[in-house]
Amino acid sequence: MTRANQARRCAKIGEFVLDCVYLTDSLEAMKRLPDECVDLVICDGPYGITQNSWDKISGIQEFNLELMKVFSRVLKVGGSLYLFGKHNCLDFIDYRLYLRLNSRIVWYQPSRLGQGRKSYTNNYDIIAYLSKGQAKTFNLEDIRVPQLVELEHRKRCEKVPSVVNGKFSKTKFNPNGKNPGDVWGDIKQLTYKSKELVNREVLNTIQKPKALMKRLIDASSNPMDIIFDPFAGTGTSLVVSRETGRHFLGFEIDPQLHKVCLDRLEEAGRNIQHQLFG
Ligand SMILES: C[S@@+](CC[C@H](N)C(=O)[O-])C[C@H]1O[C@@H](n2cnc3c(N)ncnc32)[C@H](O)[C@@H]1O
Repeated sequence: MTRANQARRCAKIGEFVLDCVYLTDSLEAMKRLPDECVDLVICDGPYGITQNSWDKISGIQEFNLELMKVFSRVLKVGGSLYLFGKHNCLDFIDYRLYLRLNSRIVWYQPSRLGQGRKSYTNNYDIIAYLSKGQAKTFNLEDIRVPQLVELEHRKRCEKVPSVVNGKFSKTKFNPNGKNPGDVWGDIKQLTYKSKELVNREVLNTIQKPKALMKRLIDASSNPMDIIFDPFAGTGTSLVVSRETGRHFLGFEIDPQLHKVCLDRLEEAGRNIQHQLFG
């Protein structure tokens, strides 16, 4: 192991060793994180809707506000936060003292099994995208998605004037794709058939697709940045962090999920070694 690698292995934030996931109660452990120590927080924690004991939160908005206070302390200036939840996860609370809301991303899931009887079936999660001041990183080039319109139609459109910033100009289509926008229907929820599903018990309430975490991480961090996931679950964000050359720190309260996390991280490490050295 090179000296640089050795040094990186022992790097710490406060008392916590970098590139580790801790079996701990995040609400307590986060108090011991130093100020302004991470570049990106991915918070896929309680939604306040399932029967999981950790999800029984009496007021999800107030709970999220307390989390946002902590995140604004531990984020570096210009760092970003993605906060997962349902449609009302930010209602009736004033978080503007702490963080700036840039987008409410709708993660659209058309094929929900549970159908509503008394109201409309819920077909999306919210991923609130916030930052501590102006976001310092937004790598649009790394998250472009294919243009929806076909090439011939695009060429026709490029000859038609359209309104941009109040002025008339030609419609331009970037050949590398378009901004994914704030409604994401292109990344599917995991199903029983998904190869990346670690086991059936974690479906729906827990494990998120790697592609979803990858878009957040690619957009809002750079290699060597530090990503913090306070509710790591099966460790999807941490695995993607490792695969994309980011540093990470995770907390998880459930011993079984913590073990899953460790196994997935080890496997990711092995795959990287294999790619590098064959
Ligand atoms: C929605 S899941 C996270 C799923 C994760 N993004 C994944 O892809 O696997 C939320 C996780 O937060 C954990 N959790 C809930 N309360 C916690 C706490 N106070 N401290 C640490 N972990 C907690 C739960 O055990 C659960 O695994």
